[in-house]
Amino acid sequence: KRVAILISGGGSNMVRLVQDMRSEDHPAQPVLVASNDPTAAGLAKAAALGVPTAAVDHRAFKGDRAAFEAALLEPLLESRPDILCLAGFMRILTPGFIDRFEGRMLNIHPSLLPKYPGLHTHARAIEAGDAEAGATVHEVTTDLDSGPILGQARVPVEPGDTPETLAARVLQREHQLYPLILRRFASGARERFDI
Ligand code: GRF
Repeated sequence: KRVAILISGGGSNMVRLVQDMRSEDHPAQPVLVASNDPTAAGLAKAAALGVPTAAVDHRAFKGDRAAFEAALLEPLLESRPDILCLAGFMRILTPGFIDRFEGRMLNIHPSLLPKYPGLHTHARAIEAGDAEAGATVHEVTTDLDSGPILGQARVPVEPGDTPETLAARVLQREHQLYPLILRRFASGARERFDI
């Protein structure tokens, strides 16, 4: 299976996915890492890992979301992906774009969905006094952060946690969860698997 990964920043999840796909028993291989930000640090990490990269600066399209996506689709479709992974990708995609990949598009979201879709998930969990937080890998559908859940990883919220300390704890678990779920998804498994 050919996997393309979309990032916006550091790409730490992308790095784990690419590294995991390097083991020969993995049913998938990385074919492209693309970003909406040409300065994303993850692009250099992908290149260093030998994965082709592309950058389409969403700021060059001044809010014309469809034009940005048309530009992004060019290198994306050229890489002939079977699966599209969003990993720290921070742009909202239109239904038109999502429809092209429906059923073969994954995202990782740093909360225990359906709690806290959207942004600032860790601050919201702390604010609510939750005992647990975590991350969710889900199929991407046209409803933001609400596609079928493929797996979750939980962490305790510790007394004195800040959004930063909680984010760091959750990120460690994202790095375990996402590669595992991609392996399963690429081999055809669709039932939920929590870690
Ligand atoms: C992190 O907040 C992570 O929780 C979310 O996207 C952000 C950046 O992740 N998935 P990455 O290091 O770019 O993968």
